[in-house]
Amino acid sequence: MSLTQAPAKSLRVLRFDRVQRGAHWANALLFFSLMFTAIPLYFGSFFGVVFPRHLIEMIHLWSGLALPLPIIISLIGPWGRAMRHDVRRINYWTREEIHWMRTLGKSTLEADKFNPGQKLNAIFVGVSILVMLVTGAMLQWFRIFPVPWRSGATFVHDVFAWAVFFVVIGHIVMALTHRDALRSIFKGWVSRSWAERYAARWIQEEPSGELKH
Ligand code: HEM
Repeated sequence: MSLTQAPAKSLRVLRFDRVQRGAHWANALLFFSLMFTAIPLYFGSFFGVVFPRHLIEMIHLWSGLALPLPIIISLIGPWGRAMRHDVRRINYWTREEIHWMRTLGKSTLEADKFNPGQKLNAIFVGVSILVMLVTGAMLQWFRIFPVPWRSGATFVHDVFAWAVFFVVIGHIVMALTHRDALRSIFKGWVSRSWAERYAARWIQEEPSGELKH
């Protein structure tokens, strides 16, 4: 279904509440800021020509230190119920899902709210936030760490930075080519027919009252 052909409200189901959408976009903004500032930090020759180094370093550092906040805030407190529910879903893998992943999506699957590729993406984002935060803090407060630790932190920070670029670009391509899923991260809902087709297990499990938009 195209973005313009919206189904009636009674035929919509809520996929992401406001808290989840807010967390997603705050997280995306911080990742964008980190990736944008990472380019001149990596290719040092940009400095002095286009960017003042200190400013770029500060934007990178503060975006990095803020990175876990959207996820933490969206998880704690009474407003985080849907987010906590989704984290449990992402951590739960059935045999069929593992098989689907191994066969690169060629086996049949009655998908959960998120397909295994989407689950893997979310896990990667969570792990990379943690790894980048720890290694980034070591790069910033390097004096308290022995030299081999510092070089290890630089290496891991760089390797994960490359992986983040690949995964984020892949994520954007997938989002742009899956319009219903894309709309749900802007507006919250998907059509019931889409959910029955692409997230059949989710639709069967959730009491329909909770899903109504
Ligand atoms: C999406 C996440 C991130 C990406 C893609 C990224 C990427 C990079 C890259 C490519 C560099 C240059 C490394 C080099 O010169 O070899 C760098 C440096 C650095 N990063 Fe990150 N980073 C991320 C997250 C973080 C976080 C969470 C922190 C938190 C503290 C952080 C703190 C730093 C610091 C302090 C430096 C050193 C800056 C300098 O040259 O003085 N980064 N980052």
